[in-house]
Amino acid sequence: MKLNNLLKLLYFIAFLNLFTKSYSKSVMISNPSRPNLVSSILDDSPQATEGNNSKLSLKGENVSTVQNLREERITVNYKPPANYEYPVNYNSNDEIPKRHLLVWHENPASEVVVSWGLDHYDPNHEHFVYLSENQQNGIEPDLNYEKKYAAHESGLAESCHNRKHANMMAIIKGLKPNTTYYYIAVSNGQKSREMHFVTAPADKTAFKLLSGGDSRTDRNQRVTMNKMMASMVSDDPSYIGFIHGGDFVSKGSNCDLWFNWRNDHQSSFLDNGRIIPLIPTFGNHEKGGEEQFEKLFGNPLDSRRFYFLSSIANLSLIILNSEISTEGDQKTWLQSTLESLKNKKKHFIVAGYHRPAWPAVKLPAPSTAWTKSFEQYQVNLVLESDGHTLKQTCPIYRNKCDRSYGIIYVGEGGLGVRQRLPWRATRWYFNRKFGAYALSQHHIQSLSISSDVFGNDKLTYEVYYDQSFHHRIDFASKDRSALGKEIL
Ligand SMILES: [Fe+2]
Repeated sequence: MKLNNLLKLLYFIAFLNLFTKSYSKSVMISNPSRPNLVSSILDDSPQATEGNNSKLSLKGENVSTVQNLREERITVNYKPPANYEYPVNYNSNDEIPKRHLLVWHENPASEVVVSWGLDHYDPNHEHFVYLSENQQNGIEPDLNYEKKYAAHESGLAESCHNRKHANMMAIIKGLKPNTTYYYIAVSNGQKSREMHFVTAPADKTAFKLLSGGDSRTDRNQRVTMNKMMASMVSDDPSYIGFIHGGDFVSKGSNCDLWFNWRNDHQSSFLDNGRIIPLIPTFGNHEKGGEEQFEKLFGNPLDSRRFYFLSSIANLSLIILNSEISTEGDQKTWLQSTLESLKNKKKHFIVAGYHRPAWPAVKLPAPSTAWTKSFEQYQVNLVLESDGHTLKQTCPIYRNKCDRSYGIIYVGEGGLGVRQRLPWRATRWYFNRKFGAYALSQHHIQSLSISSDVFGNDKLTYEVYYDQSFHHRIDFASKDRSALGKEIL
């Protein structure tokens, strides 16, 4: 078929779907590196759309959309480095900065926590981050890098009672959104290899995030999943960040486990030095290791609460902590945060935390305290971990599957831990008529903010395993301005 005829056919399919209310079965597009020209919403998952009045309506249909034929959005401004061969002796001794880690919290468009490890930490030496918008290859840092930041040992060495766990950290602010930054870490007069990352967008930019949880055991599988993430980022540079849903390690107070996790984390980087910053969630296996968690990742709201709002363009990512009281201050904060987002137009809200309210394996966790708030403010999607299984619930509203107001919960952690049988998948919220499922499968989740061919913003959720994506759901933005207690 000629290209013109193919494009006409694709447009025709897209228009046809606007006027039909049919359901399509799951399809699998086998090559994640090829942006799909025609994407289908899978299973019977609902498609949330703005209704004619202030209330939300759901078409209950699976609308095929034609992507990439008319790109409404700016793309991620990723500037890959040119190939560069470092001098033979560059980084050849054991004093160099290593075990890189980048962390995002509240403002990924302008801030990043840059940290690294050292085999031999000397508190009397100076430590710096040199930063540039252009590739410098670590040469003459004082002359060519535009910015220089002092770094300090975060306190991890002291809390671990061992200098080998020293964590050099610089909290960098004032960055430009949607910008590729190159940096080197300098400790003990030794320069790291040049690494780079892209700041989050602050405007109408299409971007993607990786998501997943539970990497605490089985290091081989953990590295396999990290390499799969690197492969996904290599294939699609619009991935900019990674939400970790908690249970990084089996015992959060065990610094050796963190040391191993951090070593393995390096396998999620690209060979060319690209790092995807991590957005951390506190898991139950981190309990007892609050101090180590804080010294490694930072503590955006102080008091080791480890919950925060991460704002990325028109996506509000609410990271909650299921390991402290889910009532009281945290619930009040959640409610006021959702209220503050209510009037944002063309906006998406995703909540994430560790222990599930709607589990496929265990009993419901105290995170059930938040589900009414999610329903009241009609969040788009909720990320859960902890169960060691792959699941998607039906859209849940008032303890029933509800295509009109239901919230879908996905999870539950597959970044390394051995997967469990989802034996509670016979529960009502795994009703297959609503697209729900639960299975034993290591996986990585993908969140994408983009526009369809008609210029409508959408949030797309997908799951990746066996080098393919599965279970796609497209969510439209919601008009929440009229939402309130009446929805409950
Ligand atoms: Fe857990």
